[in-house]
Amino acid sequence: MKELSKTITLAPKSKIRELFDLAAGRSDVISLGIGQPDFLTPQPAIDGTIAALNKKITYYAPTRGVPALLQSIEKKLKVDNNITTNWKDNIIVTNGGSQALNLTFATLFNPGDEMILSSPNFISYFYLGLFYKVKVIEAQRRPDFGPDIEKMERLITKKTKAILINSPNNPTGYALTRKELDQIINLASSYDLYLITDEVYENYLYDGTIHTSPASLDEMFNRTITINAMSKLFSATGFRLGYVVANKDIINLMENYHQYTAAGTNHAAQYGFIEALNMDKSFFSPILQSFYQRRNLVYKRLNELDLKVSKPKGAFYIMPSLKNYNINGIEFSEKLMKEQAVALVPGNAFGSYSDTMIRISYATTIEKLEEAMNRIEKFVKTL
Ligand SMILES: Cc1ncc(COP(=O)(O)O)c(C=O)c1O
Repeated sequence: MKELSKTITLAPKSKIRELFDLAAGRSDVISLGIGQPDFLTPQPAIDGTIAALNKKITYYAPTRGVPALLQSIEKKLKVDNNITTNWKDNIIVTNGGSQALNLTFATLFNPGDEMILSSPNFISYFYLGLFYKVKVIEAQRRPDFGPDIEKMERLITKKTKAILINSPNNPTGYALTRKELDQIINLASSYDLYLITDEVYENYLYDGTIHTSPASLDEMFNRTITINAMSKLFSATGFRLGYVVANKDIINLMENYHQYTAAGTNHAAQYGFIEALNMDKSFFSPILQSFYQRRNLVYKRLNELDLKVSKPKGAFYIMPSLKNYNINGIEFSEKLMKEQAVALVPGNAFGSYSDTMIRISYATTIEKLEEAMNRIEKFVKTL
């Protein structure tokens, strides 16, 4: 048989998926690996989808998305993010945040272009770079996981086309301060770069931290590509719905690419998304409160074990360093799984600067987190 695609062959199976496989069929495993909130998808999202199916909405949706959904997103952007859009020009509905990213890479970049991000960062950015032949330039984060703006500036070359930010961040839990965001915006404007902002965790924020969408700020809309999804806020990762917000030219190009590669998204589910967006946001308050308690618990226990980490300000991940234990993330996660049946992700999944770290997702119950931390404690004492 002839050789398969060299590019795709270079992308190994996702480490997070491997973890799923290791844990499959083992009832004793506690998973701290998955980026999936544990609360039930709000009922209106489900009812809206079922109602659409009962109306036999089983045919192709408009490529950009159902107008009523685009209008709901336009309203959400104005109310929640202070971003002014025109739903006819500036929004496209996608198959999750993942495809929103895919469309962004497909339409922004030419082979050889460079894109700068802070590292560690979300795994898919690196592979999308590989698939679209974009050089992903990693600016190592500061020890507290904040962006090193001076380093980012030093890494800008003639080939740099975009900066990508993800705040609150997966895997570090870092959320940009307003000052840091302004500095990044300043870089993007001064060097005429696009700013890709992945905001899928915008609602998961602690300690009074405030999220600002760069597309809401003066002069930034035109150069900003905003990515968001239904997945995390509504605990609806299986709905596979997300969206991109950008200028008209970018959205037009995305529509072209989208029609030949995906031909739209699930039609009926878009009606579920409309109902979810219509919900009173207060549904999320008790959920956020519970995630806050989980973060506090895990942070405290990790510190007691000398697994050093700065306190996450957002999302539902925490990324401790293993430096005090002279073990790398791969060894730690494999042994922990074998000896104590706790699944977490080795840091090297998230870039070049996190080999001696692990990522823990605390999107699970306090009881399970306590048990998992007891097991981690037992394991760490053997090191
Ligand atoms: C930072 C970030 N962006 C995008 C995604 C993809 O989201 P979706 O599940 O909607 O495709 C994820 C999923 O974990 C993520 O962590």
